[in-house]
Amino acid sequence: MKLFGRPLSASATASTFDVGGVLMDRPFKIRRLGHFGLTFRHLDEAVRFYADLLGFWVSEQCDVAELAPTLVKPMLKAVKDRTIYMLRHNSDHHTLILVGKTINDIGERTIRGRNPVKGVTTNQITWQVGSLAEVVNGSAYFTDRGCRVLNTGRDMPGSNWHCYLEDPDRHTIEIYYGIEQVGWDGRSKPVALYDRGFSKAPKLPQMGEWQEIDNALREGVDLAAGFRAEDSRPTPYDVDGIAMARPFKITRIGPVALFVEDVSRALQFYIETMGFLETERRTHQGEEMVFLRNNTEHHSLVLIPIGLRKHLGLSDQTTLAWFGLQMASYRQLRAAISFLREHGVRVVDDLNPGLHPGIDRAAWAFDPDGHCLLLYWSMEQIGWDGKPRPTDEPAAPAWPDNVEETSASYRGEVFLGPHA
Ligand SMILES: [Fe+2]
Repeated sequence: MKLFGRPLSASATASTFDVGGVLMDRPFKIRRLGHFGLTFRHLDEAVRFYADLLGFWVSEQCDVAELAPTLVKPMLKAVKDRTIYMLRHNSDHHTLILVGKTINDIGERTIRGRNPVKGVTTNQITWQVGSLAEVVNGSAYFTDRGCRVLNTGRDMPGSNWHCYLEDPDRHTIEIYYGIEQVGWDGRSKPVALYDRGFSKAPKLPQMGEWQEIDNALREGVDLAAGFRAEDSRPTPYDVDGIAMARPFKITRIGPVALFVEDVSRALQFYIETMGFLETERRTHQGEEMVFLRNNTEHHSLVLIPIGLRKHLGLSDQTTLAWFGLQMASYRQLRAAISFLREHGVRVVDDLNPGLHPGIDRAAWAFDPDGHCLLLYWSMEQIGWDGKPRPTDEPAAPAWPDNVEETSASYRGEVFLGPHA
């Protein structure tokens, strides 16, 4: 009898795993970027930027000290700004996490037992896999390969089963399954359901969420007691038929672009250990940038030699090169650029297209801590042959009122929910 997600037999290669009946090189398959976390020196300004200006909904805001183990609480409580903000742009409980740098670093030292790395301002970069078995077997696989696994279990709030580990540049990354879905009422799960959190890998199988909720109802838990953010902002913009507080809607997150010390080392980790696929390479200032994907998107991860950071004029305070935010349409992308500039945000809209192959017109916008966001609207999709579309880069970036349809227009991951 074969164990799911385990090597099939002694005679099979050790790299052959059964993932849902499909033989693969590792016991999980990343489907997409799920969420992303950033640390900040000025957390209040960050919350205003991401929630008020960009329109992420706050799905939870909690005191980190309340979530921490008893021994660590007093140390965390000494920090004034210790709220962790979880935000979302879709029905996932969180697609973005904002946390203060001080509290993040204390947590790293006391809970994870490691010193924070200078320049790492990402709190987590999190990839969705397809099942709980993939997470649990992935955790064992990472350990077998000598990766530094930070913790495995189930996050509350958020309900996602997770395994956190480090990449070679010590960015915290995560694979997860089963994140809580926030519905039409905009309410997260109540705290009473947090007793289903796990701080270690669970034994399989686990009860499903339907049974968890059935049990809670029998115990009289008030399912409407969860957090729902208040939002009374005026909605002066007609966004393709919906009155909204801003003239655009973020419909997808990623790609993530990282500066790394050694691209070969990072590639080996992301391709061999994590299963990313290389789409293409581009040379900039004589150095090679590598564009990677998991699914049909042209790229969801870019690895860039850290020597390029200065040439690109990006902040020397972070190893995050940029973080992509996709708008619902080309018109909304243009509106977002104007809107952010009107609100004092620095935006660069004459980027070298070679920095974002597979993505039509794009702009950089900078958050209050100097993190760079890549705003865009379309992502080329890669088909069965794994090759990107041969294309001539436009001679010069331009922002006409409208653009011709291409094979990338409105293709790829679909935004399912209402825009506001
Ligand atoms: Fe996470």
